[in-house]
Amino acid sequence: MFNKRTKIKQLLQAEQAGQEVTVMGWVRTFRNNQFVALNDGSTNNNLQVVLELGLFDDATLKRITTGASIKVEGIVVASMGKGQSIEVKAKGLEILGDSDAERYPLQPKKHSLEFLREKAHLRFRTNTFGSVFRIRHSLAFAIHKFFNEKGFVYLHTPIITASDAEGAGEMFRVTTLPIDGTAAKNEDGSINFKEDFFGKSTNLTVSGQLEGELGAMAFSEIYTFGPTFRAENSNTTRHLAEFWMIEPEMAFHDIEDNMNLAEEFIKYLIQYAMDHNREDIEFLAQRLAEEEKQLPLDKRSELGLVEKLEFVLKNAFERITYTDAINILLESSHYKKKKFTYDVQWGIDLQSEHERYLVEKHFKKPVIVTGYPAAIKAFYMRMNDDGKTVAAMDILAPGIGEIVGGSQREERLERLEQRMKDMHIPAEDMSWYLDTRRFGTVPHAGFGLGFERMVQFVTGMTNIRDVIAFARTPKNCEF
Ligand code: 4AD
Ligand code: MG
Repeated sequence: MFNKRTKIKQLLQAEQAGQEVTVMGWVRTFRNNQFVALNDGSTNNNLQVVLELGLFDDATLKRITTGASIKVEGIVVASMGKGQSIEVKAKGLEILGDSDAERYPLQPKKHSLEFLREKAHLRFRTNTFGSVFRIRHSLAFAIHKFFNEKGFVYLHTPIITASDAEGAGEMFRVTTLPIDGTAAKNEDGSINFKEDFFGKSTNLTVSGQLEGELGAMAFSEIYTFGPTFRAENSNTTRHLAEFWMIEPEMAFHDIEDNMNLAEEFIKYLIQYAMDHNREDIEFLAQRLAEEEKQLPLDKRSELGLVEKLEFVLKNAFERITYTDAINILLESSHYKKKKFTYDVQWGIDLQSEHERYLVEKHFKKPVIVTGYPAAIKAFYMRMNDDGKTVAAMDILAPGIGEIVGGSQREERLERLEQRMKDMHIPAEDMSWYLDTRRFGTVPHAGFGLGFERMVQFVTGMTNIRDVIAFARTPKNCEF
């Protein structure tokens, strides 16, 4: 058997001198023809491998370069060097894969995140991305754990869909029709999608919610966790064209139950990462503090990453209505000094500068905003008694802005049909959705958490491109 190895993380944790081990990994550095810093991705802490002088031939030693992969058999011994309590004294050494030091892009020095974005296929081998992606993994696991413990059913909603009613953003079309102009046309000159693969016009999904609602009307509580796609031309540090979303949907829940669940969920995820990824979070906290040293004082975070996460865990999220939010903005000195780019008045869609003012300057903690004007929200949100606002809720997080969007759903058939009519949503295409209101409708609610924004929040990474393995953004689809 080839793979009888000990992971470096386990080895460093056990600190058991005397045992014989096999380790494998990639060389980070090689000093004095003697000391290899070896990493296998299980932790940012490298294992020091000591090669006794004279034991290995020069030709082999020359091949121990940054990025090369090696297999070492040896014995664990107490370390004399600083920075580690144990090291491995090599008895056998095998080069598994060479790495040309001249051409290997990751030199043992600090690289910029921009540079590493272009080398995304290798950036997992850096400390920063090692930490980020181990945390991302942990959060994904914690999501399933949270909902499983609560008895939610994980529902896989489709990725290709013919429904375009969400109105959440521009969609990517899915077609097998030729794009050279020869596709069959209708009499009015439009494309005849009856000839297309599915016999109708189809897209990549922007959200699994509508299908999720169908599941909730049978299982009571479901969640989805999958990729979603939006062809918005937004080149920001918070938007991706392909991102992952978690969408729980619950029967017998109103907007308040919805808020309570979302807050509990976010805190659970943070706590899980704090308990299981402490070392990586602390590494990223330090990285962030270093990075912020280059910013002017007023642009730096008041709290370090660890303190920020602890603060969020300890404090209840602020809950305000949209109308409160508008009033706070109108009364702010920021507004009076005309520092907002976009105007503020009741009825506007809150811009990210407004959201950030509310969470970062005014409340300094996560805020849940409810009761948005119906006119700026999706058709399925439940109309409040005032006839103007809907039972929507957005959660805004410091440094991120909107992290969750959700609502109580309109369960009353006539009202829903009226709303669809007003918004020119063809009811005939949506009769499967309306059936849930026809047959045993119940009050229900749900929300969507943007997974990458959650990972950003926990890791402190400022650009969303740095928390997904291979980012898809306008004019960019490498790897
Ligand atoms: O607010 P959104 O558009 O809500 C929905 O899609 C609902 N169907 C959710 C539901 O009620 N089941 O998106 C939900 C969240 C946002 O709050 C944000 O965190 C994230 O998804 N999100 C994005 N993340 C990265 N890139 C984008 N382009 C995103 N658009 C939304
Ligand atoms: Mg939203």
